[in-house]
Amino acid sequence: MTTAVATPDVDLPAHIASFLVDAQGYADVERLHDTYTWMRAHNPLGRVTHPDYAPFWAVTKHADVTAISRNNTLFSNGASSVICRPQAFIDHLIAKNGIPHSVKALVHVDGEEHKALRGLTQSWFMPNSILKLNERISALARQNVDALARHNGQTVDFVTDLALHYPLHVIMDILGVPPEDEPRMLALTQEFFGNQDPDLKRGLDSGGSDNGLGLGQNMLAVVADFRAYFDRLTDERRRNPRNDVASLLASGTINGEPLGDLQRLGYYIIIATAGHDTTSSSASCAMWALAQHPELLPRLQADPALIPQFIDEAIRIATPVRHFMRTAMADTDIRGRTIRQGDWLMLCYGSANRDEEVFEQPFAFNIDRKPNRHLAFGFGAHVCLGQHLAKLELRLLFEALIPRLQRVEQVGEMRMMSSLFVGGPKTLPLRCVVQ
Ligand code: HEM
Repeated sequence: MTTAVATPDVDLPAHIASFLVDAQGYADVERLHDTYTWMRAHNPLGRVTHPDYAPFWAVTKHADVTAISRNNTLFSNGASSVICRPQAFIDHLIAKNGIPHSVKALVHVDGEEHKALRGLTQSWFMPNSILKLNERISALARQNVDALARHNGQTVDFVTDLALHYPLHVIMDILGVPPEDEPRMLALTQEFFGNQDPDLKRGLDSGGSDNGLGLGQNMLAVVADFRAYFDRLTDERRRNPRNDVASLLASGTINGEPLGDLQRLGYYIIIATAGHDTTSSSASCAMWALAQHPELLPRLQADPALIPQFIDEAIRIATPVRHFMRTAMADTDIRGRTIRQGDWLMLCYGSANRDEEVFEQPFAFNIDRKPNRHLAFGFGAHVCLGQHLAKLELRLLFEALIPRLQRVEQVGEMRMMSSLFVGGPKTLPLRCVVQ
């Protein structure tokens, strides 16, 4: 990482730099978007210098996020793909694992290694394979709508009562985790992504003995629990293989070599975490939009062919993945600024998805956007592996719900998760009437 020399017109003001690395800030959606809007207008590729982090460039324009994501050779994931601190924790990981991560997942590798690793499970997540799950996911969607109907007129928390469980069940079924273990997987995922959220993080009292590892200590404890669980699952699937992704990972090879321990664990964890929390957040955002914009429901009921556009718009507005990082592999120029080899860049998906140059009235929830060029699933070599599954799950849920939904009313505040990596609503109190 190059050492940055402060330059007022290049560096973002200190309060914005602090905001961008403050997990709590991301829970304040209005302030977050005010900040992004200011950045797009005044310093769309600004440098962040903050005492707790290595310096990085904050990339806020749709065109720049797209161009950087497209060129994975020049802008690599490998060195460090998510913002992380403190340095003591990163040093600890390098000493322990030889890499600055607790596992080695798809998002941490590039080039041929990435292609081979992604190729191992890709066929499970392609549109044709996903379509085979249509019947099973539809049935599950209907069950969830029935459950909502049983609470007609009562206050439900759409996030905790429904949204968190439906995509969880789908991905655990694909992975091969039995239903009785789903609550465990949900709790671990929430501790994983909610590492900085006071309501969700694991409450480890380090008693001052965390050797400066800080929040990382919690994260390592969560990863250790995932490891214990998935090591058992691996042993079981090696003895009794089934038609599921766990069996593929348990015995999978890359170029004739078995997966390494950190690779296998990374794969399990990314599917078990990214595979549901993001989709749940998008489902909650879609429901929030129905409550906020009463004209939407009759329109969707009259023309259900609009449901896929409604889903796309909900995913754009939710943008549950706040950022991924890239590292420049050579000197280059973006927007007239020199990016040096080794510089770190934060892809601010939430900002790109409100870019006025791409989206007319970017803050409006508009189901007529076609095409909807949002970047919520990323772009390029690392584009979300599960995007077709996520969209299918959301479409089937709302195709089951919308014809039966007579009324939806928001009866309390939608509270957001404090997370600067993956986050969304953590509570959404609603009262619904479902036929
Ligand atoms: C990667 C978003 C659902 C698995 C990503 C990336 C984003 C993202 C932004 C990084 C892309 C990039 O670097 O260019 C989302 C959103 C979802 C969702 C918004 C739901 C609305 C899912 C699901 C799965 C999944 C259901 C289940 C398999 C993955 C994996 C990667 C990934 C494995 C890493 C891909 C790679 O590095 O090659 N996702 N995701 N995601 N996502 Fe998703």
